[in-house]
Amino acid sequence: MKRILLFFILAAAVMYDTAWLPSTAVERRNALDTCLLKPAFESLLGVTCLFLYWQILNIFINLVYIYFLEQFFRLALSRLQNCGLYSEEDSIACRRCVVVGNGGVLRNKTLGEKIDSYDVIIRMNNGPVIGYEEDVGRRTTFRLSYPESIFSDPIHYDPNTTVVLIVFKPRDLKWLWEILGGQKVSAKGFWKRPALKMIYKSSQIRILDPSITRKTAYEWLHFPTRFPKKEKPKHPTTGLIAITLAFHICHEVHLAGFKYDFADRNSSLHYYGNETMSQMMQNEYHNITAEQKFLKKLIDKNFVVNLT
Ligand SMILES: *[C@@H]1O[C@H](CO)[C@@H](O)[C@H](O)[C@H]1NC(C)=O
Ligand SMILES: *[C@@H]1O[C@H](CO)[C@@H](O)[C@H](O)[C@H]1NC(C)=O
Ligand SMILES: *[C@@H]1O[C@H](CO)[C@@H](O)[C@H](O)[C@H]1NC(C)=O
Ligand SMILES: *[C@@H]1O[C@H](CO)[C@@H](O)[C@H](O)[C@H]1NC(C)=O
Ligand SMILES: *[C@@H]1O[C@H](CO)[C@@H](O)[C@H](O)[C@H]1NC(C)=O
Repeated sequence: MKRILLFFILAAAVMYDTAWLPSTAVERRNALDTCLLKPAFESLLGVTCLFLYWQILNIFINLVYIYFLEQFFRLALSRLQNCGLYSEEDSIACRRCVVVGNGGVLRNKTLGEKIDSYDVIIRMNNGPVIGYEEDVGRRTTFRLSYPESIFSDPIHYDPNTTVVLIVFKPRDLKWLWEILGGQKVSAKGFWKRPALKMIYKSSQIRILDPSITRKTAYEWLHFPTRFPKKEKPKHPTTGLIAITLAFHICHEVHLAGFKYDFADRNSSLHYYGNETMSQMMQNEYHNITAEQKFLKKLIDKNFVVNLT
C-alpha cells in the first residue's frame, strides 16, 4: 500500500514537473548535465535533513521534496555558463587566500592594502567595499551570498567578482532561475526580502556545492542532525562556510574580521552599519559559541593565519 502511494506521489510530481517546464529549459538542461557533479546531489540529502526538516512531514513528502530540489538544481544550473571557480589559464602554483569576515574588528585597522595583496580575496554577503577601502581593500575574487544577502544595488557591482551562491532551500534555486531568466521574482518564501534584480552577469555566478555547507555544519561544527522541536535549526554562518570553501580551493588561508567582542554588547557587529553585538547574540539560527571555539582551534593549530 505504501509503495503504491509513493508511486502515485512520484508520478504526480513528474507530471507536474514536465507540464511546468518551459521547453527551452528542457533543452538547455540536457546540455548542462555535464555540470552536475554527482557528490553535490548525494549531499543534497544531508542538506535537506539539516536545514529543512521541519518542512518535511514524512518520508513520502521528503522524497518528492528531494525530487523537486534536484529539478530546481538542474533548472538553476541551466541558466549558468560556468561551473569552475578559476579560469583555466589562471594556474597559480601556490594560491594565497584571505577570507574577509564582516566583523567590526576591521574598523580603523587600515588592513586594506594588506588584504588586496593576496591572490584570492573571499568576501561574504553584503559586506561593502565602497567607502571602506582603507580598512577592507578593494578587490573581491569571490563573494559568498544567498538570495537574502546578495547585493541588489548596482553601485556595488564589480566585474572582477565571482558570486558563489549558497543555497539553503529549493526556493533559493527557483529564485536564481527566475531572476536570471528575467522573470518576475516574488519575495514569498524568504526569511527576509531577497534581491529582486540581479546586478551580476550570469557568467559571474556559481552555485556552491552543498557538500561544503554540509561539511561545515556536521564535520566542523558538529551540529546535531536533528534539533529539539522548540529550538531553531542552526546553520553555519556564511563566514564559516567561506573558510571551508577556502580550504578546498587555496593552498594558504588567512583570515581577517572574524572576531566578536562578546564582552561589549554595544560594540559594532560589522565594519559597516549600526548593528551591535547584542543582535548577533540573540540570533537563534547560528551557534556563535561553537563557531568561535572552532576558529580558535584553527588559529591555535596554525591552520590559518589570523590578521585581526
Ligand atoms: C575610527 O576612526 C574614526 C575617525 O578617526 C573615529 O571617529 C571612530 O570612532 C573610530 N572607530 C573605532 C571603532 O575606533
Ligand atoms: C578588474 O580587473 C582589471 C584587470 O585586473 C582591472 O584593470 C580593473 O581595474 C578591475 N576592476 C575593478 C572594478 O576592480
Ligand atoms: C549600551 O547601550 C545602552 C543604550 O544605548 C546603554 O544603556 C548601556 O549602558 C550601554 N552599555 C555599555 C556596556 O556600554
Ligand atoms: C545608523 O545610525 C545613523 C544615526 O543614528 C542613522 O542615520 C543611519 O540611518 C543608521 N544606519 C542604518 C543602516 O541603520
Ligand atoms: C552550541 O555549540 C556548543 C558546542 O560547541 C554546544 O555545547 C551548545 O549546546 C550549542 N548551543 C546551541 C544553542 O545549540
